Amino acid sequence: MRSRIEKLLQAMDDFGLPGIALNPGPTLTYLTGLHFHLMERPTVLLISAEGEMALILPALEAGKLSKISLDIHAFTYDDDPETRPGAFRNAIEHLDLPGEDLGVESTRMRFLEMVYLGEALPGRAFVDASPCLADLRMIKNQNEIEKMRHAAHIAQTALLAALKGVQVGMTEKEVANQLIIQLLQAGSGPELPFAPIVAFGENSANPHSVPTDRALQPGDLVLVDWGASCEGYLSDITRTFTFGTVDPELLKIGEIVLQANRAGRAAGKAGLAAGSVDQAARLVISQAGYDEAFIHRTGHGLGLEAHEEPYIFEGNSLELGIGMTFTVEPGIYLAGKGGVRIEDDVVVTEKGLESLTDLPRALLPVEDLLEA
Ligand code: CO
Ligand code: CO
Repeated sequence: MRSRIEKLLQAMDDFGLPGIALNPGPTLTYLTGLHFHLMERPTVLLISAEGEMALILPALEAGKLSKISLDIHAFTYDDDPETRPGAFRNAIEHLDLPGEDLGVESTRMRFLEMVYLGEALPGRAFVDASPCLADLRMIKNQNEIEKMRHAAHIAQTALLAALKGVQVGMTEKEVANQLIIQLLQAGSGPELPFAPIVAFGENSANPHSVPTDRALQPGDLVLVDWGASCEGYLSDITRTFTFGTVDPELLKIGEIVLQANRAGRAAGKAGLAAGSVDQAARLVISQAGYDEAFIHRTGHGLGLEAHEEPYIFEGNSLELGIGMTFTVEPGIYLAGKGGVRIEDDVVVTEKGLESLTDLPRALLPVEDLLEA
């Protein structure tokens, strides 16, 4: 943890940030090993450019600090909200933060915490520290990659178990519920990266479909997008299967998406732009005449969060580096008919992209997958 803090201080120096305020989330956990939930009571970790740390938190949570080796000074408040401003003031005085910008995570920091911080630091400007923090978490070490590999393994094992009972008439919700049970059974952490997507037939044409009471019928595609967690590190996988005899065009887009997924995974290399992965996958789909039906970016970074840097979109010039982890997930969606997405989790190595996911990718009949 100390080396992560050192890395952060270096990044804060590079970005000219005299202080950072974090509320509960993956970055706070990454830096300290502490787990808190976002709730109605504010919890804020302040870190100065000198590496001094102060944590403002409800008194009942203070015991968690005794379980870590980092030197973090706690400033607690009790159930009376009137005691909060004092805790914020004392923490800020303790760190002696200079009267300059305070970095926050733009997608995490809330109005609640900002009001208390603003009262304790009149005239202070808040700036987005996301670029500074993204650099920190983007490159994973071997230990983090092994956790992600395990999260992928848990997810794959769970899917095979969940699909065993699939039959005509089962609803998307029923299959999704089975999958959640199997994910926990296979060893996933209790907090799944996201609620699994199970989409039958025409529903698979919606990339963010939510499981419904739609019942499975012969001729349906079955799209499943799911993931597991291992000590906070996540997997995020999509496979599409056939159930009975499906429309030949769906088989055709299945083959194209498979080629696009392969092309994307073959294109990524350390030193190349993140956008090159998107371009390679997108080219396959546009050459087949389906560019209008590939309606999202090719992937996103994955780690402690299901969506993080680096984002895999066409114009992204961010240079890929060894240890970066992200998804490759091209798709083709035909409204009213169905959609196919094939999503793998990959890590950048000396040799190119290594896939952490290895479940068969082709548009197989569900029963063939279970036999394979
Ligand atoms: Co996904
Ligand atoms: Co994804």
